Amino acid sequence: MCRSALPVIIVAGILELCPIVDAASGQAEGVGQPATTAEVEAWGSIVGPDGTGLPPGGSTATEGRLLYDRQCAACHGLTGQEGPDPRLAGGVGSLGGEEPSKTVGSYWPAATTLWDYVNRAMPFNRPGSLAVDDVYAVVAYVLYLNGLVGENQLIDGDTLPQIEMPNRDGFVPDPRPDLANTSFQTAWGDPNLQGVWSYATITPLQRPVHLEGRTFLSDEEVAAQNRDSAIRATSERRNGLTPERDLSLAYNQVWWDRGDSTGRTSLIVDPSDGRLPGLTPEGRRRQEAQEVARREHPYDSWEDRPLQERCMTYQRVPPVPSGYSNTYQILQVPGFVVILNEMIHDVRIVPLGDRPKVSERVRQWNGDSRGRWEGKTLVVETSHYRGQTTWRGFPGSSNLKAVERFTRVDPGRIHYRYTIYDETIYTRPFTVELPLVSPPEYVVYEYACHEGNYSIANVLAGARVQERSVRSGVSADLKD
Ligand code: HEC
Repeated sequence: MCRSALPVIIVAGILELCPIVDAASGQAEGVGQPATTAEVEAWGSIVGPDGTGLPPGGSTATEGRLLYDRQCAACHGLTGQEGPDPRLAGGVGSLGGEEPSKTVGSYWPAATTLWDYVNRAMPFNRPGSLAVDDVYAVVAYVLYLNGLVGENQLIDGDTLPQIEMPNRDGFVPDPRPDLANTSFQTAWGDPNLQGVWSYATITPLQRPVHLEGRTFLSDEEVAAQNRDSAIRATSERRNGLTPERDLSLAYNQVWWDRGDSTGRTSLIVDPSDGRLPGLTPEGRRRQEAQEVARREHPYDSWEDRPLQERCMTYQRVPPVPSGYSNTYQILQVPGFVVILNEMIHDVRIVPLGDRPKVSERVRQWNGDSRGRWEGKTLVVETSHYRGQTTWRGFPGSSNLKAVERFTRVDPGRIHYRYTIYDETIYTRPFTVELPLVSPPEYVVYEYACHEGNYSIANVLAGARVQERSVRSGVSADLKD
C-alpha cells in the first residue's frame, strides 16, 4: 500500500506514515539489510506540491521528446497512451465515467509531483539514472503530451509549480483526526471523556418520508434547516402568527437549544433506510394497547401521565435529542464513569470492569449500566430496564439492551453511537449516531422540574371535575 500510495503521500507531506527501517539499529523484522544513511537521505529529498525542493535547472518539451522516445516510450507508448504500462496522457474528464482513465493529465493534482516521481522512480528499469535537466525535459514532454504546456515553454523551478493541473481540485483533504497522536488521558491512565458534551441536533431520529433514499443533505439544505431552526420562535416571527401557533411554539427562541443539523437525514444510521425497524407482532400489540390506554384512560391516575410530566425521567437512556437540555456531563474516577444527563438530571453511575449486574428482579427506568474500555472507546451496556415506559424516542420492553460507544476524537468532540437490541419489540437491532461536542462556555444549571410536585395534582383534579360535570349533565368540555 505504501508503494502505490507514494505520489499521494508526497503531496500530503506525510512520508512518516511509511515505516522506514531504522538506519542506526536495523532492528526491524530480521529480513533484508539496513538502509544506509546515504540511501535514506536520497529518499528524503522531496519536492512539495508548491515546488519546494525543485533543484536549479530547466528544459523544454522539444528537448524532452528524444529522451522520452528512447527511455520511456517502450513502456508507455509514443504518445503516452499506447502502454503497455500506465497511460500518461489523455483521459481528462473520464474519472467520473464508466471507464475512468487515470493519467498525469486526468488525475495528478500537481505538476511538481511528476518531477518528484520521475526523478525518483523512472525509468522503471533504471530509477535515479536521469540528470536533473533530463528530468525537467521528460516532465515537460509528458505535460506537452497532455496539452498542458507549449513545445518550447521553459519548465523549471519557477514555472512548474504554476501549471494548473486539470484535476487539481479533485482531491479532498482527509479531515479525520490523527488518533494515534491524541492522548486524552486521566491521571490514572484511562481515556479522558470528562467535560460537558452536547448532543443537541435538529436532525430527526427517523428519516422523513420525503427524503427516502438519501443519507445526507446538501450543504444548502443544511444551511436552510439551521436558519429555520435559529429563527423558529423569535419574537419577530411570532408577531406574524395566529395566537394558537404562537402558543404552540411555547418558549421564546432564547430558551430553545436545538442545535444544528448533523448533515444526515436521520440519526438512525443502521438500518440504512434511516428508520426504526419493523415491530414484531408483540411490539405492535403493545403499541396498540398503549394507544388505547392513552386515549381512554389519560387521567385516571398519575401513573397514566408521561414520565417527563412527572419529573421521573425524560425518556430512557440513551437519549434522543429534544428542544433543550441535550447535554451530558461526564465525570470519571478510577473504576467508574458518571454520566449526568441534563434533562431531568438523570445520573448514571457506570462501574467499569466485570462487576456483576443487579438482580434480574431489579428493574429501573434507566436500566443498569456496566462499562468497559475497548482501546480508547468506552463501551457502556445497559439492561434491566422496566418493561413499561411511556413512549418518547423509541418504544422498548424489559428485554431492551443498549450498547453505547464513546470515543474521544479531538479536544472538542466525542464520536458517539448506540445500538438498541430488543427482540420483543423490533425485528432487528438499530444504531443511532449522535453528535457529541463540547460547547464553549456551556453551563449545566439545575434542572428544577416541578410539574411532578404541583401540576399533576391539578391535572388529576381537573379531570375529576370534568367527570362530575359530565355525569351531572352540565356540558362543560374542559378537555382542551
Ligand atoms: C521498463 C518500463 C518502463 C519504462 C522504461 C518507464 N516506465 Fe514509467 N512506469 C512503468 C511502470 C511499470 C509504472 C507503474 C509503476 C507503479 O505503479 O509502481 C510506471 C509509472 C510511471 C508514471 C506514473 C503513472 C501513474 O499515473 O501512476 C509516470 C509519470 C511514468 N511512469 C513516467 C515515465 C517516464 C517519464 C519514463 C521515461 C523517463 C518512464 N516512465 C519509463 C514502466 C516504465
